[in-house]
Amino acid sequence: MTATTLRFRHRHLLGIEGLSREEITLLLDLSQAYVDQNRRADKKLSTLRGRTVINLFFETSTRTRTSFELAGKRLGADVINMSVQTSSIKKGETLIDTAMTLNAMRPDILVVRHPDSGAVNLLSQKLDCAVINGGDGSHEHPTQALLDALTIRRRRGGLEGLTVAICGDILHSRVARSNIHLLAIMGARVRLIGPPTLMPSCIDRLGVEVFHDMKRGLAGSDIVMMLRLQTERMQGSFVPSIREYFRFFGLDYEKLKSAKPDALIMHPGPMNRGVEIDSELADDIDRSLIREQVEMGVAVRMACLDTLARTDAGNEAGS
Ligand code: NCD
Repeated sequence: MTATTLRFRHRHLLGIEGLSREEITLLLDLSQAYVDQNRRADKKLSTLRGRTVINLFFETSTRTRTSFELAGKRLGADVINMSVQTSSIKKGETLIDTAMTLNAMRPDILVVRHPDSGAVNLLSQKLDCAVINGGDGSHEHPTQALLDALTIRRRRGGLEGLTVAICGDILHSRVARSNIHLLAIMGARVRLIGPPTLMPSCIDRLGVEVFHDMKRGLAGSDIVMMLRLQTERMQGSFVPSIREYFRFFGLDYEKLKSAKPDALIMHPGPMNRGVEIDSELADDIDRSLIREQVEMGVAVRMACLDTLARTDAGNEAGS
């Protein structure tokens, strides 16, 4: 594990953009070891004994916050959860002041989720500890892309050469952005499928293919990643109606027939059944990796905490 950290050159994990193929592979290999550890009866290690991890979440979360908490605890760290609902942000304190207050308590790692793109990066420049981006606005969600990659790699043996279709609300999705970067770095082909209103302009500059028709976009895909309609980030109306959205862009058995016969389905959660995905298909254990993604999430977060806790500030600080 020391070799791992020696070759991970970043003090923070703010995004997938900027990581090398080697660094991603190192994190995935370490995650794989933690998957096995997490399947044992005794899951607890003392790797991070004496270290403090603070989860600072300015947005709601089930999977990400819980899995970072479990990951920290399984590695023996002390983990504190802070949510905005109970913090002094409610009393008008600024983001920076809240972060500086926590910084004064000498945590080793801060995991931050924030509704504004760039907010986590800003914080990382003000703090002494390592910072992990738990999702910032529609920018990046690096640990989600890593857990998706681990899930695919375990099923398909690797990522290189696979065709991955990411479908739905691409415009508002940090999950899509992190996955686009990761899949490109690892040599997979990425297709984006969604209505024009939910497709960022100039996204094809990232080397992806864009489709507005599910069947055409899914043709020949190995992996189908569905995304939630992120209505909390929408100002105004982006889709005519939920019914119509499901008809054209919701994944069901019929549309899935266009993908490869053994294509697998993913969703970062939380999913809206009957909106972006058919309920029965989401639970189909022969096609859906959705539960496995959640399991991989804990292992990936253990690998990220472990790696950053061991990376000293002298290694290309600030990145
Ligand atoms: C995603 C997020 O928060 O960006 N969820 C997650 O972390 N599992 C996707 C979403 O909220 O739709």
